[in-house]
Amino acid sequence: MTLFVTTVLANAGTSGAMPPQASTIAPEVDGLFYFIFILCTIFFVGIVGAIIYFAAKYRQRSSNDRTSAIDGNHRLELLWSAIPTVLLLVIFGWSFRIWLDMSVPPGDAIDVRVTGQKWSWSYDYPASGCVGVSEIVVPVGEPVKLTMSSLDVLHSYFVPAFRIKRDVIPNRYTVQWFTATEVGTYPVSCTEYCGTGHSIMASQVRVVSRPEYEDWLANDCGGGDKSGEELFRDKGCLACHSVTGSKLVGPTMLGLYGREETLVGGEKVLVDDNYIRESIINPNAKVVQGYDPVMPTFKGRIKDRQIDAIIDYLKTLK
Ligand code: CUA
Repeated sequence: MTLFVTTVLANAGTSGAMPPQASTIAPEVDGLFYFIFILCTIFFVGIVGAIIYFAAKYRQRSSNDRTSAIDGNHRLELLWSAIPTVLLLVIFGWSFRIWLDMSVPPGDAIDVRVTGQKWSWSYDYPASGCVGVSEIVVPVGEPVKLTMSSLDVLHSYFVPAFRIKRDVIPNRYTVQWFTATEVGTYPVSCTEYCGTGHSIMASQVRVVSRPEYEDWLANDCGGGDKSGEELFRDKGCLACHSVTGSKLVGPTMLGLYGREETLVGGEKVLVDDNYIRESIINPNAKVVQGYDPVMPTFKGRIKDRQIDAIIDYLKTLK
């Protein structure tokens, strides 16, 4: 409790207590949060205050002091049972209503599929045939339903500004939804520890006007004519592969093209177009010595011409 209060107060002091409220559900969640927070503060101050006051007032003044015989106080006991019960029911009713709101997406919501994978998020727009995009763009003021799944381990999709968060689990779909109320860009993070790259497993929701959204769907969705460099960044490759020479989870891409790599097991391989292509589609077929076979497959999440663009980009990294 004390830790909680100090943490919240510290955050409130430095950066504002909360991220912006950018969805229809956000004010409701905040309302409930502040209600519980203030309630806790009142009880904390009241109880600790009473402890200190009583400890001072009824301290043993001499060894002759005797505690008076008290058998019980029915009125007091009733009160300290009834008041918390009522408060608890209020909290339950209030949060249950919000939880129902959050759990049932409107029937006309825009359908977006979210795939979590160590360590990036990708999105599919089934209605428009656009798949494997690395950003989520939604129109302002319209409900959006996220149907989420994971290709490997447990992740969690959290949009602080929308006050929504739900686990993303392999072999199962989980659903959450939101209606964004403000145009802007809002961070997304993974909030279940999922391995080395957990902290960089970020994304963002871009909220735009309806015409901009339609324009994006028609023209940019699916990568459009992005350069290899943009694709390399947007597909999340940079999380594990530096382009500067430093060793991360995977080998650096600097000077990679044309190099001879030694694989786990001692075999050697020349890094050419085919090797790069294979490493994107079937990453663990030929793993470089000194690294773990942890790269996820990008099969189905990347188009052939995007692979070509990435290969061309890697050639420039000398
Ligand atoms: Cu994905 Cu943490």
